[in-house]
Amino acid sequence: MLVTKQPVLKRFWYPIVPLSSLSFETPSPFELLGQKLAIWLDADGKPAAVSDRCCHRSAQLSKGVIINGCLRCPYHGWSYNSDGVCVNVPQFEPGQTIPSSYKVVSYLCTERYGYVWVCLDAAPLLPIPAISEAADPAMRLIHQFYERWECSGLRVMENSFDNSHFSFVHAASFGDQHQPEPASIEITPVDYGLNMKSRVPVVNPPLQQTNLQLAEATTIRTVDANWFMPFTRTLKITYPNGLVHLIFTAATPISDRASQIIQFCLRSDTEADAAAESIIAFDRQVTMEDRSVLESTDYDAPLAIPDEQHMPSDQPGIIMRRKLAALLKEHGEIEQRRT
Ligand code: FES
Ligand SMILES: [Fe+2]
Repeated sequence: MLVTKQPVLKRFWYPIVPLSSLSFETPSPFELLGQKLAIWLDADGKPAAVSDRCCHRSAQLSKGVIINGCLRCPYHGWSYNSDGVCVNVPQFEPGQTIPSSYKVVSYLCTERYGYVWVCLDAAPLLPIPAISEAADPAMRLIHQFYERWECSGLRVMENSFDNSHFSFVHAASFGDQHQPEPASIEITPVDYGLNMKSRVPVVNPPLQQTNLQLAEATTIRTVDANWFMPFTRTLKITYPNGLVHLIFTAATPISDRASQIIQFCLRSDTEADAAAESIIAFDRQVTMEDRSVLESTDYDAPLAIPDEQHMPSDQPGIIMRRKLAALLKEHGEIEQRRT
């Protein structure tokens, strides 16, 4: 599936940049599903997103500056508000009316979990994924990764629900090389995607023994994972001592070939129990192990089941393909593939 060629994918919310990366002085560029955006903070500190092309002579607005909460084009200085309406043309006489056609497309834009979320359509099909643990004062939020991967979102998502790769991809971190049989799973398709439950025996290396405050060389992860269509997941892991480590990962689609990986975690312990730096270090190792393999996969991941071969543990990925195929069909689209 070529994500930029499936218009229905524009009808979902995607996290695009950390709110903390935005300034009141200069805008930031981002490309979402092939749509170039200029992102900035308005006078109230609220994020705004517009098409990154001035309606005058098409200059990139993200190369401009922010003046009084409005985005000023770098070329001739026209300024746009967060609705994309041109509110100042410096070359006009004072009091001269600005034509209503002087505007750029603005997009739905809001903040959640410390990130700016954008929907390219005025009528999103689903809300931003709700994570009840994020509102729990007993949980701390740790920002982990923000980086571009040359990989499609579907590949990242199904990898998250694939119990069969640990002994190979994660042999140096938590996978048991001598136990390649995948842990069994319980899958429930839901309106927003799917839920998967599993109990996974894992190796507990020294760094994790500290992070988890579990001295054993092996442990059990009780997993409760959600896939939120199309490219977001939460992986809630509960360890035998009650510690909760919930990982949020979005593979926000930049283009057909690339995704912006956004990951944070929510933990039920404190900084005194386990340093955020040390938690990030372990999850970094695991994530890089996945990245190395995922970037080697074909970005044009097929939805048609016969187009790749499968084994029983691939059920989550098969459900993802079926649900995405049904979504396309429901909206009158045919899966677009590389020719
Ligand atoms: S191109 Fe933007 S003001 Fe002229
Ligand atoms: Fe993995």
